[in-house]
Amino acid sequence: MTLHSASIIGWGKYVPANVVTNDDIARYVDTSDEWIRTRSGIRERRFVSDDETTATMSVAAARAALDKAGLTAADLDLILVATSSPDHLTPPISSQVQEALGAQHIGAMQIVVGCTGFVYSLVTAQQFIATGAYETVLVIGAELISRWLKPHDRSTYVLFGDGAGAVVMQATDEPCGVLSHVLGSDGSGAEHIIVPAGGVAMVPTHETVDQVLIRMNGREVFKFATRVMGEALQQALDRAGLTTDDIDLFIPHQANLRIIEYAAKQAGLPREKVMVNVDRYGNTSAASVPLALCEAFDQGRIKAGDTLAMVAFGAGLTWASAIVKLGVTIPALGQVEAAAAGEA
Ligand code: ACO
Repeated sequence: MTLHSASIIGWGKYVPANVVTNDDIARYVDTSDEWIRTRSGIRERRFVSDDETTATMSVAAARAALDKAGLTAADLDLILVATSSPDHLTPPISSQVQEALGAQHIGAMQIVVGCTGFVYSLVTAQQFIATGAYETVLVIGAELISRWLKPHDRSTYVLFGDGAGAVVMQATDEPCGVLSHVLGSDGSGAEHIIVPAGGVAMVPTHETVDQVLIRMNGREVFKFATRVMGEALQQALDRAGLTTDDIDLFIPHQANLRIIEYAAKQAGLPREKVMVNVDRYGNTSAASVPLALCEAFDQGRIKAGDTLAMVAFGAGLTWASAIVKLGVTIPALGQVEAAAAGEA
């Protein structure tokens, strides 16, 4: 069977307008700007307003990505939405997004893998394109964690933010796309990031209402993250037959600046090859890698033909990495590069 390549041809993001600084958080949580900045690298994050949901953010990011790709929703063959904070437990958010975008009655799937969800979804999109099953796939990572934060819980409140990012992947003859990937899961760490109630194991009642909120053992997740980030990156590089020297930009899950710096140091990646925006958005879970990817594109930090390394970790516990080569003829990227050259 001939395998097809898949090119990222469009990207788009949505973040709520409402900026919440560390000082804002410190007004209702026992913490300080200094603690949050030095322990996590976060300065501010975005929280949704009352009329926004994960679906509205997904649709906004998707529309931006389709615009960049020069496509409409009618051109899509499949929609994947990575999120752990859907509008409803059922129906899946992917169908809400399909309807709101005005896409045809194509397949639409919600992928729930915590913060790792976008990388899992990108890899999944690549498989459908590689086999020739589909030509054009929309991949969204969206998360609205702010409504799941326990009031006054400083172990979670300081870290998370809301947002959405999306890419359009399309079949191409160019040798590009996901060159290699690693998907991993270790359910023995399930309790380290958990929303205990809300599912069938503990249905929401007046007694359990407090448990329908996120709980995290930060220290355990920190230890896990610093171990798997470097390992998953190295394994994906080995599978692609590449070394860190071949990587043009490392796009890690934006959970904590210390975790990112540790992984980059372990891999021997210099600071200029590491995308960081955790300072402005906090941990946006499944939205974090696509938000960082979109900003890297828009800031001109990515050129046509570049090789990117994406690594994420999250609830499950799970991890995922992907080495992604960009095509050399991406019209939207040509526009960014031309605009940057015009400014120079
Ligand atoms: N403000 C002020 N003080 C605090 C806060 C806070 N928000 N939180 C904890 N502290 C205190 C602790 O009580 C402790 O005090 P003590 O020394 O007197 O006992 C001290 O600060 C240090 O606490 P630690 O938990 O050891 O702090 P650490 O350096 O580990 O940083 C953090 C905590 C930022 C949560 C870190 O562990 C982390 O980033 N972990 C990873 C979290 C993560 O990535 N989660 C996302 C998972 S992905 C997903 O799918 C959702």
